[in-house]
Amino acid sequence: MKGTSPDVEVHSSQEPWWRRGVIYQIYPRSFQDSNGDGIGDIRGIIDRLDYLVWLGIDAVWISPIFFSPMADFGYDIADYRKIDPLFGTLTDFDQLIEAAHRRGIRILLDYVPNHSSDRHQWFLEARSSRDNPRRDFYIWRDAAPDGGPPNNWQSEFGGSAWELDAATGQYYYHAFLKEQPDLNWRNPEVRREMYDVLRFWLDRGVDGFRVDVMWHLIKDAEFRDNPQNPDWTEDMPPHKSVLSIYSCDQEEVHDVVSEMRAVLDEYGGDRLLIGEIYLPIARLVAYYGRDLRGAHLPFNFRLIEAQWDARHIERQIVEYEAALPEGGWPNWVLSNHDKPRIASRVGRDQARVAAMMLLTLRGTPTIYYGDEIGMNDAPIPPERVQDPFELRVPGRGFGRDPQRTPMQWDNTVNAGFSTGSPWLPLAPDKDSFNVEAERSDPHSMLSLYRRLIAFRRENDALNLGRYASVEADSCVLAYLRETENDRYLIALNLGPEPAVLETPGQCRIVISTEGKAEGEIVEEKLHLQGNEGVLAEMMS
Ligand code: GLC
Repeated sequence: MKGTSPDVEVHSSQEPWWRRGVIYQIYPRSFQDSNGDGIGDIRGIIDRLDYLVWLGIDAVWISPIFFSPMADFGYDIADYRKIDPLFGTLTDFDQLIEAAHRRGIRILLDYVPNHSSDRHQWFLEARSSRDNPRRDFYIWRDAAPDGGPPNNWQSEFGGSAWELDAATGQYYYHAFLKEQPDLNWRNPEVRREMYDVLRFWLDRGVDGFRVDVMWHLIKDAEFRDNPQNPDWTEDMPPHKSVLSIYSCDQEEVHDVVSEMRAVLDEYGGDRLLIGEIYLPIARLVAYYGRDLRGAHLPFNFRLIEAQWDARHIERQIVEYEAALPEGGWPNWVLSNHDKPRIASRVGRDQARVAAMMLLTLRGTPTIYYGDEIGMNDAPIPPERVQDPFELRVPGRGFGRDPQRTPMQWDNTVNAGFSTGSPWLPLAPDKDSFNVEAERSDPHSMLSLYRRLIAFRRENDALNLGRYASVEADSCVLAYLRETENDRYLIALNLGPEPAVLETPGQCRIVISTEGKAEGEIVEEKLHLQGNEGVLAEMMS
């Protein structure tokens, strides 16, 4: 087996690293540009590794860096084994692995198995004729009797998910852009090829994968029409007008996921499999797999989708905890490259409370780059729009460029992201909200994140301990995290008005998002300011 292993401290317990660890998502186009072309790259990531060490990150998930025509910014891959020249070379990548591992940081890649680019060699062959041996690598159907698409399945970026290939007279299926034809995962040859792709990167020392749209991989064998969604309204994305019960989340997908997992397990037990899955809790937890032989962490997007209301979020937490299979490990996510940023959704003050929630709930947290400095979604003038979703369904607020703007490092030109002209505009508040400015300010978002991460790392009650709800009024969410030895109370005021919590005993303030005196003893009533979160150690 090639590749270095991360130089990490060995914990006395046998817990896998990702249970205690904090994951950080890098959208590589926007993290750090090293060559002045305005697009972030692998060398840029290497240059910023020490920042991630300082922040306390355990693993980095990098959105796709593979050879791609960039119709969907790398989620359309034309060669799964090649690094796109925009991002660098395979040598740069090997150096990234080595440099990260030397610092104790693990590297997770984005694996995009549901679809390739339409420029992938397989698709070029597949579309060349109906009897090409690669034809069945993709999903082809005859037209409906009226000559239209074979069924009513919708592309997530708008319109029919079927594209007529005039030369061969059949339609192919694409759950996203027509430049992203879906691979046929019912074909064992596709599986073999795609598992070898995993091995290719595992051999280079990669520590795991985030699997793109895992719940999409297998489609109904009979291609039945999806039912209409009676709850669909105009403000929802067009594809939600039908319920994707036949195009997604088919029972057989779990065989595929367990096969992927088996490939990772060939490399010892510590390679991590994360699945991107947007499904209700009951369906989501099935992706842990039969006997936990599926994804280690099916991404839990409850905090992305939830209304920001204490009782609602508490219900989500309790339902999620209850639904987890025995031994299944939870996880939490606040933002990602597809959804509005947390600071824009709930405001910057509340984003501090959200940070405390993310880093104190039971389960592995994933931080989206820039959230730790309180980055907001940036306004994108129409002429600068890049995202294919926005270009296809314009002006409806579905565009994803606002949350993908360049990382704000300092006060220099382009916030230190690039010496060239950045592919997306920088956010207007970059001079106040950037790493350099916040690093030295003990009250900044960045300092809060760093403290919370460090505290979580040091305390078993927070990283591994049990979760228990604490009764609280209206806008307060309160819970305990505990082991045999330690108990911490987390009290989060999700509203702007002051609130009081009856604590379950005497406690001592450890961290407050609003600067309450550390060490202060609270007897039984914890007074929270508006938008304040408190982490306190229980004394009794
Ligand atoms: C996932 C990615 C998203 C991409 C889509 C198609 O949802 O996160 O960015 O557009 O899959 O690959």
